[in-house]
Amino acid sequence: MTDYRLLAAQLDALIKDEPDALANAANFVALLYNALDDVNWVGIYVLRGEELVLGPFQGQTACVHIPLGSGVCGTAAATLRTQRVPDVHAFPGHIVCDAASRSEIVVPLMFGERLVGVLDIDSPSLDRFSEADQEGVELVCRTYCELAGRSDRFI
Ligand code: SME
Repeated sequence: MTDYRLLAAQLDALIKDEPDALANAANFVALLYNALDDVNWVGIYVLRGEELVLGPFQGQTACVHIPLGSGVCGTAAATLRTQRVPDVHAFPGHIVCDAASRSEIVVPLMFGERLVGVLDIDSPSLDRFSEADQEGVELVCRTYCELAGRSDRFI
């Protein structure tokens, strides 16, 4: 089981003194990608108007534009709720980027009340993400947003 509190502390150390939003977002996803077992894609989609646009990520190349409400990412953004999907093939409208992905978790990224994007994590294993993983990933995302939200820019 990943130590998400340790991960949040590492994230804090990594970005607290760095004002560059893009560099921090890139390091955020790289930290998660290397710390988590059994994941094949970790990345950010940025909210731009009525769609999500691909941001910093680790993994295979991915689809660039996702309308709000579409797929797992667009659903997380439209509902402002984490989507924890044990089997992506059973999720209506799931958008395939890496065919190896079998389960997925997507967490809305909020600067206060404002949605700025989502964090998407994919796994090649079915049901990879437990409720404890969800709480942990949400903690790390909150930590990131608190730190990154001190500047007005997200990316
Ligand atoms: N599967 C996502 C699309 C993004 S990729 O997994 C990187 C979705 O359904 O929104």
